[in-house]
Amino acid sequence: MGASSVFSIRFNLPTKIVFERGAITKVGFEAEDLGKKALIVITRGGSMIKFGYLGNVRLSLESRGIKYVVYNNVSSNPRVDEVEKGVEVAEKEKCDFVVGLGGGSAIDTAKAIAATLGSGKPFIKYLRREKEISAAYPVIAIPTTHGTGSEVDKYAVVTDVERKAKLTVISRHIYPKVAILDPETTVTLPPQLTAATAFDALSHAFEAYINRSTNRLARVFAAESMKNIVENIEYAVKHGLNIAVRTRLLWASMLAGLAIDLVRTALCHAMEHPLSAFYPHVHHGLGLSILMPAWIKFTLESAKEDFAEIAKILGLKTEGLTIDQAAKAAYDFVADLRKKVGLNFKLRDLGVKAEDIDAMVENAFTYMKALIENNPRVPTKEELKKIYLESY
Ligand SMILES: [Fe+2]
Repeated sequence: MGASSVFSIRFNLPTKIVFERGAITKVGFEAEDLGKKALIVITRGGSMIKFGYLGNVRLSLESRGIKYVVYNNVSSNPRVDEVEKGVEVAEKEKCDFVVGLGGGSAIDTAKAIAATLGSGKPFIKYLRREKEISAAYPVIAIPTTHGTGSEVDKYAVVTDVERKAKLTVISRHIYPKVAILDPETTVTLPPQLTAATAFDALSHAFEAYINRSTNRLARVFAAESMKNIVENIEYAVKHGLNIAVRTRLLWASMLAGLAIDLVRTALCHAMEHPLSAFYPHVHHGLGLSILMPAWIKFTLESAKEDFAEIAKILGLKTEGLTIDQAAKAAYDFVADLRKKVGLNFKLRDLGVKAEDIDAMVENAFTYMKALIENNPRVPTKEELKKIYLESY
């Protein structure tokens, strides 16, 4: 990290953060100033209904006389057509704000719909950067996973099926107006999703800490985030109902979200997006957990001091170690942690075909260039292929 950039910071979070147990029951109160009818966006998996979180939101809105309509046509890697349909429903139903309830897919879709309602159709123009977002309807984000951080950032990730690319919309207009973080809504995450979403947040924290754009504030958020994740992830996987560890993980994912809002991610995310664009069944966090060790190994030599600092933050014994050894300790820790939390997979285990890797490399260089170049060590196409193959 160049010394000149360390204290060069712009930070203006327009999102009101409500972080507390039971916060989901306050959504009606928070929505009062934002609109009269909500489009509530959830994924079609059904867990928001099954676990009663949608019911909580509905009751809370009703108690304040706010109307709503539920839109659940959203997959776990949301697509352009799902955003466009959501826009149609919101227009037909005359919704004037949007609630994203669930993981990153529901929240990002809510943001994308809100942007299109505010700036005009079609959404794909914003995704392909052919038109600027000029306004958005208000969004309330209620994360029920501890991975995305999307509740406090200006990004929305949506898959452009035609181009087979997972692209990111970036706009200050799509910061949620309110982020409602209720640890009680995360206790129902099953063990593998607990681990995978926490790895998404861990990856955000690592990438924000070491990337070329990083700054002092992003590092404060990232450091606190990774510390909380490594202290709690194993316990959360085994004892999902423990509210104290869930609170720490939700806290950590929010902080990692703030970190990437400031300085974006880097190569690990640049490699995961092609992966889940080609294989939409692949969970983003799971994909990251597979790529992370090879990414760190490749990046180490250009960011030794930073990874050595991370080793200290993680609480590893670094006394008497050289910088190289301490940096390597951070790598070993991550490689080992994946196994401990039940994510000991390779790309082939997810059904990825080796013959797709060249196309994934091309895809990354076409659509993820900014994040590739934000990595301390910038790979050639050959080197990128090697990282995928090492994870294969
Ligand atoms: Fe992510």
